[in-house]
Amino acid sequence: MSQVEDKPPRPDEQNLRRDEFQILDNYFTEKSPTFVELRQVQREVWNLPSADTHFAQQAHRADTASPALQRRFFRMMQRIGHELHKAHNIIPPPLASPNLQVLDICMAPGGYSATVLKHNPTAQIFGLSLPETDGGHPVLLKDNPRVHVQFTDITMLAAEMGGAAIVPAGHPMAARC
Ligand SMILES: C[S@@+](CC[C@H](N)C(=O)[O-])C[C@H]1O[C@@H](n2cnc3c(N)ncnc32)[C@H](O)[C@@H]1O
Repeated sequence: MSQVEDKPPRPDEQNLRRDEFQILDNYFTEKSPTFVELRQVQREVWNLPSADTHFAQQAHRADTASPALQRRFFRMMQRIGHELHKAHNIIPPPLASPNLQVLDICMAPGGYSATVLKHNPTAQIFGLSLPETDGGHPVLLKDNPRVHVQFTDITMLAAEMGGAAIVPAGHPMAARC
C-alpha cells in the first residue's frame, strides 16, 4: 500500500488531544501488526473526500438513533456475528466448550454476544462498554445471569492490557485508571 499523509484528527479523535492519540497509536503499533495494517487502510480511507460525508452521516445517525434504529443496529450486529461464525466457525458449541467465557469489548448494543449465546447458550459473557453518560449506547441484550456488563471507557484500561501508565498523570480521567 502507498504511503499517505496524515490528516488532522477525525471526529472520533476529537475528544483526544493529538499527543494522547499518539500514545495509543504507538502502543498498538508496537503490539500488533494487524493494527498497523488496519491503520494504513484507515489513513487511505480518511483521505477520500467522499469519506468525510459518509463519516459525518454515520456519526449523526449513531448519536441521534431512535429506539427503532438502535434495534435495527442490534439485529445488524447479530447478522454480522452469524456471518463471521459461518465463515470461520469461531463459536464452539456447548458440548465442545461447556465453560466458554467471552470478553466482548465495546459491547453495546450486544449483537455479537447475542450471536455467541445463540450458538452456545452455556457461555458466560463479560462485556465492556462506554457508559451512556459518556456518549455510549445502551445494551439491548435481554437480561441474562450469564451476561456481566461493566460500563467503562476501555481507553482507560492500559494497565489491565499490560501497558504501564500510558495515561498521563495530569489527564482528567487518570483518577479512573
Ligand atoms: C460499533 S458498536 C459495537 C457493536 C457491538 N460489537 C455489537 O456486537 O453489538 C461500538 C460500541 O463501542 C462503544 N464504545 C466506543 N468507545 C468506547 C470506549 N472508549 N470504551 C468502551 N466502549 C466504547 C460504543 O458506545 C458502542 O456501543
